[in-house]
Amino acid sequence: MVTILKATKENIEKTAELLKAGEIMAIPTETVYGLAGDATNDQAVTKIFAIKNRPNFNPLISHYSSFEKISRDVIIDERSKKLANKFCPGPLTFVLPKTIDSRISLLASAGLNTAAVRIPAHPIAQAILNQIDRPIVAPSANLSSTLSPVNAKHVEQNLGNRINWIIDGGDSEIGLESTVIDLSTSEAKILRYGKISPEEIKSVIGKVLLPEDEISEIKAPGMLLKHYSPTTPLRLNPMKANINEALLAFGDKIIEGDFAFTKNLSPGANLNEAAANLFKYLHELDQMGFSSIAAMTVPNESLGLAINDRLRRAEYKE
Ligand code: TXA
Ligand code: MG
Repeated sequence: MVTILKATKENIEKTAELLKAGEIMAIPTETVYGLAGDATNDQAVTKIFAIKNRPNFNPLISHYSSFEKISRDVIIDERSKKLANKFCPGPLTFVLPKTIDSRISLLASAGLNTAAVRIPAHPIAQAILNQIDRPIVAPSANLSSTLSPVNAKHVEQNLGNRINWIIDGGDSEIGLESTVIDLSTSEAKILRYGKISPEEIKSVIGKVLLPEDEISEIKAPGMLLKHYSPTTPLRLNPMKANINEALLAFGDKIIEGDFAFTKNLSPGANLNEAAANLFKYLHELDQMGFSSIAAMTVPNESLGLAINDRLRRAEYKE
């Protein structure tokens, strides 16, 4: 049975103790809720892969309380320093070469010589990390390939029979996973779209490749095509309503026919609002028993790139 804990001082201390002892807990971050465990402990990392049914070739992100702390485990370069100055703590994950004596479990980095690191901005995540002298891995707190959780309730619904504790931090403010940028080679490359847009990154380091720029190798296996999917089949950009179909709308465009129910990600067409509502509304529609969900894509710019990316991955595939 899972217990949802309030983020009191005692519970944060308890969380830090349990994590140090190799336990797994769901914790809030500003992007989505994470399934946290000690990144230096092979057994804890193994448990996380098992709880999530996550393929073990898909590496995890290690979380730290500050950018300075990552240098023990990964090699910092000028680009990462500049980006960190601007965006850390926050929704940006760096893939960097590991140091020779990196503490990050080989299982967490899926045997690669690089590791993904992030400094979450959420005050509860910060408070927990501040009490722990080691990195904490935290993939999204959901079964692999299902919708990411943006509140404690979602985690309970998805993993309630597989974990013992969830720290409640309310709704995740951003609602979409961090942008992942690979800085392990001379050409910086975005591996996963997120809150920090390509333009914002370019304004700091000049040049960055996009996920679609090279498709020969799956470098971020989280980018496998079916990901972030609801159980109810989802289709994109409907021309008109199907029977017993819900609509996930955006802005004020009207679509022909009668949808059984409509949720609007942002009636005023605001992308930040749409991102914060995306997984929340998909969870909600998924629970209501519709035959299908029809979703409108959003303008393909800045945060819209990340929203459309998640929608395409949520789309029904045979
Ligand atoms: O916002 C987030 O990043 C959330 C919160 C909880 O922090 N976490 C999250 O973790 O989304 P996860 O495990 O669901 O996604 C990690 C992504 C995956 O796409 C994975 O393939 C990529 O990071 N990744 C991790 N290590 C990597 C590495 N060494 N090289 C390339 N990609 C890596
Ligand atoms: Mg995930």
